Amino acid sequence: MRDTFEVRRYDGSGRLGTLRVPRADVTVETPALLPVVNPHVQTIDPSQLESTFGAEILITNSYIIHRSDDLYEPALEHGLHELLDFSGAIMTDSGSFQLSEYGDIDVTTTEILEFQRAIGSDIATPVDIPTPPDVSREQATSEWETTLERIELAESVDTGEMLVTAPIQGSTYPALRERAAREASETALDIFPIGAVVPLMNEYRFEALVQVVAAAKRGLSEDAPVHLFGAGHPMMFALAAALGCDLFDSAAYALYARDDRYLTVQGTRHLEDLSYFPCECPVCSTHDPQEVQQLDKDERHRILAEHNLAVSFGEIRRIRQAIRGGNLFELVETRARGHPALLDGYRTLLDYADQLERTDPVSKDSFFYLSAESARRPEVDRHHQRLRRLDVPDELLLTTGEPSDAFEECWRLIPPFGPVPRSLSDVYPLTAELPDRLDDAAYESAVTGIRTLVDANPETKLTVCHDGWPERALDGIPDDVETVRIDESL
Ligand code: GUN
Ligand code: ZN
Repeated sequence: MRDTFEVRRYDGSGRLGTLRVPRADVTVETPALLPVVNPHVQTIDPSQLESTFGAEILITNSYIIHRSDDLYEPALEHGLHELLDFSGAIMTDSGSFQLSEYGDIDVTTTEILEFQRAIGSDIATPVDIPTPPDVSREQATSEWETTLERIELAESVDTGEMLVTAPIQGSTYPALRERAAREASETALDIFPIGAVVPLMNEYRFEALVQVVAAAKRGLSEDAPVHLFGAGHPMMFALAAALGCDLFDSAAYALYARDDRYLTVQGTRHLEDLSYFPCECPVCSTHDPQEVQQLDKDERHRILAEHNLAVSFGEIRRIRQAIRGGNLFELVETRARGHPALLDGYRTLLDYADQLERTDPVSKDSFFYLSAESARRPEVDRHHQRLRRLDVPDELLLTTGEPSDAFEECWRLIPPFGPVPRSLSDVYPLTAELPDRLDDAAYESAVTGIRTLVDANPETKLTVCHDGWPERALDGIPDDVETVRIDESL
């Protein structure tokens, strides 16, 4: 049992939690954003990340410090916290990213772990191999085997109080990601980053991203804190959080700013293309795009980075509040409407409704039906599972209208759930708020509920009474169920 991570509340697989970082003597609230700090170029000072943006944790690269003539000695002498002027938790990466970019690095896992400990890192990383998407299965497997050796080596190095990560690789092979996660989870290491997903995110391949993350989550134990390595764009934080990712790191706020790009929760805009700043942050409230374009380069990049950070931290707070309020799916669904690629991601997320259902709370404050995708939420799936287990009389009326005396028992018929016993109709999620003008998916899902009830109770004589459901949906009702339209009356 790990005691560094505690989950306070779930929504789907998303969770609010706390990560205890003993070496820094701090507790970080999750989901958390770790701004990436380049030890050489600080677009925003780490002390400002803490004071202005509320960063409790950041990530920097120990390999860059190790190689630097200017930083190596001061880091060893004064420690990372003093070097960067940051009092929260500091996580360090190992040079794996440089390995994947340049093909070679000149440190071993043991050396870089010992160095990370020597400079006072709070969370260290071994030298994993970030295998890119779409390589051959052979390459993905053999590189992962090397990563696993290094994780196991990391377990045997004396790392004191420092937490150590066990990165999960496996390219775009879900079964390999799941196995990698299971093996990582069985070590005594502390945090589980899902690696080498940056190319998927850069190419907006959210379907593949969701498949990879969902697979890794299946292999991990429930108490494992999960980091999505290189997940820096606020447009996808909610999607990743709903899958159960707890830590994100953002270099995007600075990298994009240096390219005059402006982050929003709906995607990226170029400064040149903006006539107005669609944002409430202090920068956007006191500047306009024309004015920012006139600034000298460093000032412009600093201003854009401040906006990018404000949006990124704002989205993290929105996600925390959504989990607390039980409306994370509504947030993900809203984000999915901001960009077609994210809609693919959300649709793929719903392929794993059964996986998300396991930790989804039985009761939340409200369920808003916002689009056809809402019909595939885990709450609907759970109701259909429940229909298999309910006691059903020999004769039963299912109706969208008023109960009828002509029947011994009468249940409500509520899209997208289907049959609902009277005793449950005031209980979440059957209290869902629906638009008056429903889409076919809501009716079709209700019919799936009817079919489930029929399958589980073949002896029961069912009558369905509806207020004008579309033929396409009604076609799914088994032939031996009498189906009546309400204004034709019983
Ligand atoms: N940063 C982004 N992706 C990765 C990864 O796969 N491994 C490590 N160590 N750092 C990363
Ligand atoms: Zn702004």
